[in-house]
Amino acid sequence: MSVYAVFGNPIAHSRSPQIHQAFAAEEGAAIEYRRILAPVDGFATELTAFFAAGGQGCNVTVPFKTEAHALADDLSARARAAGAVNTLQGRADGSLYGDNTDGIGLVHDITVLQGVSLRDKHILMAGAGGAARGAVLPLLAEAPASLTIANRTADKARQLGAEFGVEGVGYAAVAARRFDVVINATSGSLHGEWPPLSDALLGQAALVYDMMYAAAPTPFLQHARACGAAAVADGLGMLVAQAAAAYALWRGFSPQVAPVVAAMRREMEAGA
Ligand code: ATR
Repeated sequence: MSVYAVFGNPIAHSRSPQIHQAFAAEEGAAIEYRRILAPVDGFATELTAFFAAGGQGCNVTVPFKTEAHALADDLSARARAAGAVNTLQGRADGSLYGDNTDGIGLVHDITVLQGVSLRDKHILMAGAGGAARGAVLPLLAEAPASLTIANRTADKARQLGAEFGVEGVGYAAVAARRFDVVINATSGSLHGEWPPLSDALLGQAALVYDMMYAAAPTPFLQHARACGAAAVADGLGMLVAQAAAAYALWRGFSPQVAPVVAAMRREMEAGA
């Protein structure tokens, strides 16, 4: 049986096994998909052991994505640009191929599941850390009219923007501007905090997206809704879509995303 895994620390609450087993059910395949808790200083050792024992591919989550990038023998262009790897594939010659499917997962959710085209749109992304970096190239591939990166530490936004030839600013600089799509790529939602975007900016958006997800709308999305945003979406679709892209890389089978999102949403709302 093909063996896959997700590495992280912590990892106990990862929903990846459930998602990948749902994909396998659709494919009609039997796979094993494990959660592997690697010690913070022991990722490389665990990873080597996993592939040496016949593992075929793995996902990588916090805090190992940068290390996975360094350990991969070969990288996709988007993984290179992201500086992070969330998907590894073991190859026949023993080498490791690294990809990053987070950004295309985000784009799939926005354009397919939420039905919002990004072409010719003005996009604002809040945050300039790893999550934001991984999203830049896939967003630009949709040919938006503009992409602006805003961050609490404005210098980080400027640097990240300069790397990709897009605008990078502090939040004050965008307060009076209008964007079609606003994406929260900050880690603030983990603490119930959100980036200081003006009520007017949020209220004029066709879609406000939060990369975080939870059983109930995140505080940021509740706020955006109260400001009048036309539509809001959390990151559950992104999570399932990045997994689907990893599954397709490993197995050459592209699973459906929407039914798995719907099933997980039902479970989460039921408190599972
Ligand atoms: P990740 O990998 O999740 O992107 P990260 O690389 O540590 O994590 O980056 C966290 C991002 O969230 C940064 O853009 C950070 O802003 P700063 O660069 O100014 O620190 C942003 N962030 C975290 N908490 C925030 C908050 N309460 N308000 C606004 N931005 C916040």
